[in-house]
Amino acid sequence: MTEAGARRIDGLPKLRGETVFTQDLKPGRLLHVRLVLSSYPSAKVTSVDGTEAMEVPGVVAVLTGADLAPVEAAGPDQPLADGRVFYIGQPIAAVAAETEAAAADGATRVVVEYEELPAVADPFEAMKEQAPLVLPERAEGFDDVSIHGGGDTENETEARPRNVSAVAHQESGDIAAGLAEAEVVIEGHFVMPGAHQGFIEPHVAIAAPEPGGGVALWCPTQGHRFVRDEVAKLLKLPVSKVRVISMPVGGGFGGKVVLLEPLAALVAVKLRRPIQIALTRSEEFLVGRPAPASYTDIKLGAKRDGAITALEIRMIYDNGAASGWHGNISGVLFNAAYLVPNFSYTGYEVSTNKTPVDAYRAPGGTQAFFVLESVLDELAAKLEMDPIELRLRNARREGEQLPSGEHAAIGLVQVLEAARSHPLYSAARASGEGLGIAVGAWGGAFGAAAAGCRVEPDGSLTVQVGTVDISGSSTGLAMIAAEIFGVPLDKVQVELGDTASAPQGPVAGGSITTGTVGFAVSAAAADARRQVLEIAAEQLEAAPEDLEISDGSVRVKGVPDRRISVGELAMGGKAGAPVLGRGRTRIERQSPAFTVHLCRVAVDRETGSYRLTGYAAIQDTGRTINPPEVEGQIHGGVLQGLARAMGEQLAYDGGGQLRTGSFLDYELPTADQVPAIDVQIVEVRASTGIGTRGVGEPPAVPGPAALVNAIASATGVRIRELPIAPDRLVG
Ligand code: MOS
Repeated sequence: MTEAGARRIDGLPKLRGETVFTQDLKPGRLLHVRLVLSSYPSAKVTSVDGTEAMEVPGVVAVLTGADLAPVEAAGPDQPLADGRVFYIGQPIAAVAAETEAAAADGATRVVVEYEELPAVADPFEAMKEQAPLVLPERAEGFDDVSIHGGGDTENETEARPRNVSAVAHQESGDIAAGLAEAEVVIEGHFVMPGAHQGFIEPHVAIAAPEPGGGVALWCPTQGHRFVRDEVAKLLKLPVSKVRVISMPVGGGFGGKVVLLEPLAALVAVKLRRPIQIALTRSEEFLVGRPAPASYTDIKLGAKRDGAITALEIRMIYDNGAASGWHGNISGVLFNAAYLVPNFSYTGYEVSTNKTPVDAYRAPGGTQAFFVLESVLDELAAKLEMDPIELRLRNARREGEQLPSGEHAAIGLVQVLEAARSHPLYSAARASGEGLGIAVGAWGGAFGAAAAGCRVEPDGSLTVQVGTVDISGSSTGLAMIAAEIFGVPLDKVQVELGDTASAPQGPVAGGSITTGTVGFAVSAAAADARRQVLEIAAEQLEAAPEDLEISDGSVRVKGVPDRRISVGELAMGGKAGAPVLGRGRTRIERQSPAFTVHLCRVAVDRETGSYRLTGYAAIQDTGRTINPPEVEGQIHGGVLQGLARAMGEQLAYDGGGQLRTGSFLDYELPTADQVPAIDVQIVEVRASTGIGTRGVGEPPAVPGPAALVNAIASATGVRIRELPIAPDRLVG
């Protein structure tokens, strides 16, 4: 599918290898830091001996938690462990050296002594009364749930099971009555393993002391302001003393908000030298913050005509050594797509002695819709109903109250209807070929953003934003400014300032950038345009409403030679003040996005291998700014979602040791595993902001269910545990 749109502004430099990533920076006097990681899932660290490491030529320091500024609570999120470790891979010491090789060599010579403590790696074991306690009473992590639109997790007042940091409970109607009323009940236990974001660029951060007692950081973060605030808090510095320069992000997907930066800042300040911490791939698997595994029990009740009467869910998130926050988002999403008169959701946040988890593309959404769309598929089969018909029968429609209490224009019915008429849905199937469908949902943009718009003497516009581009979003922002102001796209540059100069903007996450920052950019460009027209009106002795902007000039309509170039007005023209447009916006209500995926699969029952034979993603993207870019986001999202079913998994042994900690064992899918994806964009304009909807996360939601539903259709085998084990398909 080709549609009109713009090429990514950042695309060509990336293709040509011109883009400068964090690791390409080589500040003078740079020290390299290698971390010493915990070998035990739970232990006291009784001694750290750096004597031998210091003998390696080039090693300048071996630092432990005790050498750095004291942090308040001893927990797994300390920059370096201070006497206690909570998971295998937790950083214990930092070896700084003149070269990467010396740092690596030194790190192997640091001798750590432990006193092993009881550990628990399995979430069900962790919930038992006699289980060891994973987290100390008050461990404060970098909780970024707010970025992804989850509300507060309701902490039940009754006693929680052991190692459960929070219980999200959502209920409406009468679940017992709803199940009693049901004529058909589908139930099951579903497992989705944890997954790493799998970005190309592992975590890296450079920090340098600044004159006057501050610190500067260069890092590929999704939120430089967020990093600044965390580092300032930890170093007890005013925010003005911490400057974060965000570098191009070599893949974020929720996993690159803040991780190494506080440690990098502490070490740089301590050693008074610029330092770099760069994780290797195997360190990345242990130290990065992956997605949690989920275990879900579900009961779906319905009438014989397909009307849902009840949905009861009990979900467990295995958060590793973190308190976790996915449960609440999943609860909201379980109840977002369909009208469920009687709903009961309980989500447990369970801690275990494994790497702490965090956000990964549609956190809580992929896990929830795998389960929901699987049981709906079973229901359709049981009722011998068309699976799209069943969903349409229960779909929330535009104007209907969402569980969050909001009325919004939503496009679920539209995407379902588009899916029903898609050729992949109706075309004849080869023998042994199955067809699966699944819906996905994700919340919409919300929150505040600011933007600036400056006119330059050459007539171009500089748009200033405070949100990092992790997805090509800056190209869309430039398109918005160009259209509103009235200049060609190549006359717009988008500037992301560092934390000292950028306008306020949200963390790039939650699929909100175009919605929130785009709204502010549109306001800033409109403001700049209004200023330009006012100044020109004065100078051309015309009313502003008689003016137009075209070909780089402000003209009096119908009088072609009464004109003045936009660039001449940058500084205010002959008598005005400089042009500086401002946009300050806020979106209160989310406009959720819905998508339907169609998946065809051919299964070889002799070997259990399967091959995708067709795939379509139909998505309501609201007002669509740059269709090719949207299509690209959907391609990537589809593959990252499907990967959760096709082989990716963080598999741990009973002792909390990761067994899939390299790309040899961790099965990232490859392009040849997926057929050409047919993307169909459906535009149901959102009722908020400039009418856009979040695009990046919805496509990562339905894939696993679409694939297992296709496999069920081909074989009759219902896969409830991911990734799909081929031996289950032999028959
Ligand atoms: Mo987040 S998973 O960066 O939207």
